[in-house]
Amino acid sequence: MRAVVLVGGFGTRLRPLTAEVPKQMLPVVHVSMLERVIAGLSRYGVDEAILSLGFRPDAFIDAYPGGECAGVRLRYAVEPEPLDTAGAIRFAALEAGIDETFVVVNGDVLNDFDLRSLLELHRARGAEGTIHLTPVEDPSRYGVVPTSDDGRVLGFIEKPPRDEAPTNWINAGTYVLEPSVLDRIPAGRKVSIERETFPAMVADGTLYALGDECYWIDAGTPATYLEVQLDLLGSRRGAPEVGVHPDARIDPSAQVIRSVIGAGARVGAAAQVTDSVVLAGAHIGAAARLDHAIVAEDAHIGAGAVLEDHCVVGRGQRVAPGQELRNAKVPAGS
Ligand code: GDD
Ligand code: MG
Repeated sequence: MRAVVLVGGFGTRLRPLTAEVPKQMLPVVHVSMLERVIAGLSRYGVDEAILSLGFRPDAFIDAYPGGECAGVRLRYAVEPEPLDTAGAIRFAALEAGIDETFVVVNGDVLNDFDLRSLLELHRARGAEGTIHLTPVEDPSRYGVVPTSDDGRVLGFIEKPPRDEAPTNWINAGTYVLEPSVLDRIPAGRKVSIERETFPAMVADGTLYALGDECYWIDAGTPATYLEVQLDLLGSRRGAPEVGVHPDARIDPSAQVIRSVIGAGARVGAAAQVTDSVVLAGAHIGAAARLDHAIVAEDAHIGAGAVLEDHCVVGRGQRVAPGQELRNAKVPAGS
């Protein structure tokens, strides 16, 4: 089974973390988001992943020079310009010569979904496309997908206003598709699978969906990028992972609670780091306090500084000693 993995977006909601690094190459508790996505696919028999690349393709190619990730063979399809989701799928599938049923995943979704159940429903219904659905609190950030009792999709409404969403079951970003879907995607321009291709398939009655309440998160915002990591440290996803890297240096008087501290990062005397992510090589000064903060590689947080409520500090940035920031980005406006 082959899978197209969409990893070509700009990751704008995660800036400044994604100023230079594509979001799927950001670490999620010491392992790249991409590697976690591909490891999930490999469990269900995917043996080749076609990375649909746009922004900074070199970051992926450099990270996996052997052309393999989590035991899965990698192929790279680099778009000449951003083609949006359907355009990207078409481009990658044609590059790879796909002519059989294939899988597509949004590369920023982490889940415990059993892909076999989606393949089974797809085959049982003789569908042209079958998509995984998950229930969410606020569907307005997602593709909203009402279905009939047998799983036929009745509508696909991408990011509707909250009070206009007909259901809270949303597109969870994993699809099984027939190659005929590729013929529906016009060449040479941006095409959104959510806004154009899926609605056309709904009109033809060929799109099905499977709702499932397994663990699911789209890690593409600061809040969810943090949440997915705190979930891995806790008990929501099997055996808890270890947040503090063995090569991190934590002063014995510092407190690190439910947090990720990357390789070579330093946490100074009497600093307090709670529910936060500190990436490799960053430096947290003495008596600084972090609560729900994200600090990128090699950033420097001055002594006594306070970072709260989803502050995001970009790679190599400096926060002055004693500075207090809430829900801010550094550099500002990034
Ligand atoms: N190659 C390529 N080219 N990839 C792209 C492009 C493009 O032009 N645009 C976006 N992508 C990739 C992103 O990198 C990401 O992995 C995936 O496509 C989805 O894009 P997002 O920007 O993360 O979309 P979203 O989160 O707002 O919405 C999508 O995901 C939701 C579930 O997480 C939609 O599919 C929604 O319908 C869905 O509910
Ligand atoms: Mg997303």
